[in-house]
Amino acid sequence: MDKSEAKTGGAPKGPAGLEGVVAAQSSIGDVDGERGRLIYQGYDIHDLARNSTFEETIFLLWHGRLPKHDELDELRRQLADNQALPAEVLDLMRRFPPGAEPMDSLRTAVSALAFYDAGARDLSREGALRTATRLTAQLPVVVAAIERLRRGEEPVAPRAGLGLAAGFLYMLKGVESNEREARIFDVCLILHADHELNASTFTARVVAGTLADMYGAVAAAIAALSGPLHGGANTNVMKMLLEIGGVERAEGWMLEALAQRKKIMGFGHRVYRTEDPRSTHLRDFARELGEAKGDTRWIDILDRLREVMFREKKLYPNVDYYSGAAYHMMGIPLDLFTPIFAVSRISGWTGHILEQYANNRLIRPRAEYTGPRDLKYVPLDER
Ligand code: COA
Repeated sequence: MDKSEAKTGGAPKGPAGLEGVVAAQSSIGDVDGERGRLIYQGYDIHDLARNSTFEETIFLLWHGRLPKHDELDELRRQLADNQALPAEVLDLMRRFPPGAEPMDSLRTAVSALAFYDAGARDLSREGALRTATRLTAQLPVVVAAIERLRRGEEPVAPRAGLGLAAGFLYMLKGVESNEREARIFDVCLILHADHELNASTFTARVVAGTLADMYGAVAAAIAALSGPLHGGANTNVMKMLLEIGGVERAEGWMLEALAQRKKIMGFGHRVYRTEDPRSTHLRDFARELGEAKGDTRWIDILDRLREVMFREKKLYPNVDYYSGAAYHMMGIPLDLFTPIFAVSRISGWTGHILEQYANNRLIRPRAEYTGPRDLKYVPLDER
């Protein structure tokens, strides 16, 4: 049987994992897996990474065009005005177990935010845009608060005028980051903002397609992102680097892992058959930050592992491969890497949800039934 076919036996009707299936029409983002190109609303990711800001990218994803000066100012103002968390949600977060997975805390907090938004069920374009703005503004505040609270510290209130990227780093650390670090983080948020119909975005569209509200769709998307085959891979890449410890051990570690047929986190992709264009920037950032801190150990291991993987399996790194090392160099804890992915991807999720609401049809595919038929019910005491 072809690997792309269903692995359940019989005559498959569809590819396993919906590989190659087109399940939605969207103008938000496109992945060209053969040429290694990613575009948001027509703009190449390299162009945006070099020239745009996360806020401008958010506007682009939601409105399909780049903003003018006053429109960008207005979006920045609205995001700043919507950052404060309801006191009830902060109270609830104080009761989360200190050992909770940050992705679980984030998912739970997003669900709870819906209680305190009277407009949560307004799915009109205007209402949904308002909710998208609130969620995009609040996610960085929630993630920073999760970290502060589990360390037994008080959350740091958002500081006006910093924007989402620098503002997040400030709330996380309690001090402002230097300009270069804040810009690198801003570009990381641009790079993770959208990726067409990936698993979490598809999840968000399926939930929105039932006309459930945006909080529910985003909570479900966060759950999908948390898995190690999706956004959870970035944390696991850093754990792998810590386990390897030094570049001299990299090749041996990789050969042994491949011999054991292990899946190596940060490699491979459902769509890309060449280098993931996002990883090009993240590799440069991980090296730049490593050199600035006088510690290139992690990027050296990553570069060596990449060479060995390409030689052995012709597989390329994906977006999660270098991001962890860059965040680690910024002093961000490992298990916040995936929540940070959500802080960025909320822009793409909400863009897709807006698109779904605007032209909705329930998403309800079929399954190929592989069980028996015509069985006769046997009463309990006769089995
Ligand atoms: N390490 C080792 N081998 C890998 C691999 C990896 N990370 N990714 C793919 N392969 C191999 C598979 O073993 C398979 O080989 P085979 O044909 O000899 O069995 C082949 O490449 C195809 O992989 P498959 O798992 O069928 O691809 P997929 O499209 O279903 O899965 C991913 C795509 C991303 C889930 C998969 O590459 C993976 O698990 N990567 C690691 C997790 C990760 O980094 N996720 C982040 C994605 S952005």
